[in-house]
Amino acid sequence: MAKSQIIIDYKNVTSAVIGAKNGITPSQLKSLGKKIKPSISKINKQRKAGETPFRDLPYKKGISKRVNALVKNLRKECDYLVVLGIGGSALGNIALDTALRPFLPDPGDKQSRRPQLFVLDNVDPAQFGSFLDYIKPVLKRTVFNVISKSGRTSETAAQFMTIRELLIDSLGKAGYRKRVVATTDAKGGTLRKIADSDKLQTLEVPDGVGGRFSVLSAVGLFSAAMCGINISQLLAGARDMDTRVKTTRFLQNPAAINAAINYHYYTHGKPISVMMPYSYALKDMADWYRQLWAESLGKKLDLNKRKVWVGPTPVKALGATDQHSQVQLYREGPNDKLFTFLKVNNFGRDVKIGPAPDCAPELGFLAGKKMSTLFNDEKKATEYALLESKRPCITVFFDKVNAYTVGQFIYLYEVTTSLMGTLFGINPYDQPAVELGKEATFALMNKAGYEDFAKEIQSKTKIDKKYLV
Ligand code: PA5
Repeated sequence: MAKSQIIIDYKNVTSAVIGAKNGITPSQLKSLGKKIKPSISKINKQRKAGETPFRDLPYKKGISKRVNALVKNLRKECDYLVVLGIGGSALGNIALDTALRPFLPDPGDKQSRRPQLFVLDNVDPAQFGSFLDYIKPVLKRTVFNVISKSGRTSETAAQFMTIRELLIDSLGKAGYRKRVVATTDAKGGTLRKIADSDKLQTLEVPDGVGGRFSVLSAVGLFSAAMCGINISQLLAGARDMDTRVKTTRFLQNPAAINAAINYHYYTHGKPISVMMPYSYALKDMADWYRQLWAESLGKKLDLNKRKVWVGPTPVKALGATDQHSQVQLYREGPNDKLFTFLKVNNFGRDVKIGPAPDCAPELGFLAGKKMSTLFNDEKKATEYALLESKRPCITVFFDKVNAYTVGQFIYLYEVTTSLMGTLFGINPYDQPAVELGKEATFALMNKAGYEDFAKEIQSKTKIDKKYLV
């Protein structure tokens, strides 16, 4: 596999391109470099002190070894792989699958014989019910990977309890054990308790690694490897990026540049950050990024417990589709956004556009051209249009979308997030505001010990007919 590196182009955020009012001037860039240097040193020290174990995941050979051993046993008897998880226990799995497998299976391609992946990250009864109807007749050819660090997340627990019953009823206890892999905390938590008691096959969510930083652990690697994705290249890409994001030389550090620009715009009237891949394969990477950014950086308190209420709002868009949905707003709405395009140089294949019908010679400009040319010209056209409206744009270039470049991208954004957290003076690794919703669900579902809380929620969320129209 070619060792191509992903590259950030930030020319189109500079004042030379979009003017001093919206662009970053050379002196501002210099100040940003000075400001971020201590942050780079800080996260390097935190890593050395073992406080950010996600940084070392690409080096953990034991994880891949355990994953590959399980995959070897399970893949031959698996046509369907079902991930039960939510948030950080699902979005990375989806992103890897969309990025690194063809849009549709090619019957002539070896990869198509890999299992079909379902990542069920919701408890919509219509969706789950329909899935159950589909999967019931093929349980013997299905592997379920339940992923939950805590094991007490209601959505995942509800899905798992339903599947557990179905498997035991259909295949007996031994069949159930054969069909389930539980990915959870090594020692504690509800799912660990169940896995131990039911004698399930298990993988670990490494200690100290939060869900949204866990895609390069067994959380993301197992489903990827089961689906034929080259996880060793994924980790090699992450390691490659690690060497680039460690340096305190600002202009050579892509995570530092990325964080500094994002921080600058957040503090200069552009709190919205739009990620717009011009690549179907990368569309769910933007979803993964959305969670990483939102849960890590949206914080009420800084490290000194002062109220700061910070956090850029991450938005996902897809080129060229959203040119026909969002770009009107992006150009003529408030100038409050930074745009990050993901651009692919080589799509691995191409399509020649057909000839123009005789009655429509005005379409001749498209005839016979490569679809990749149209796609990437559309990116250029959108960027040009945004720049004409003085909107700042970054581009992340992928030479190709493959496991190696995707590994780089994941690591780049994880470290960018750490740096952003340091610049904001907040803890990017917790998610206290998500916890309240989890607790409220326990209360509403009548969990013992939550009775008073349930009453309070019911009274505050009571429907008042006066406001119904
Ligand atoms: O990033 C996070 O920490 C969260 O999104 C969690 O992954 C999510 O809430 C699911 O938690 P758990 O893995 O404990 O079920």
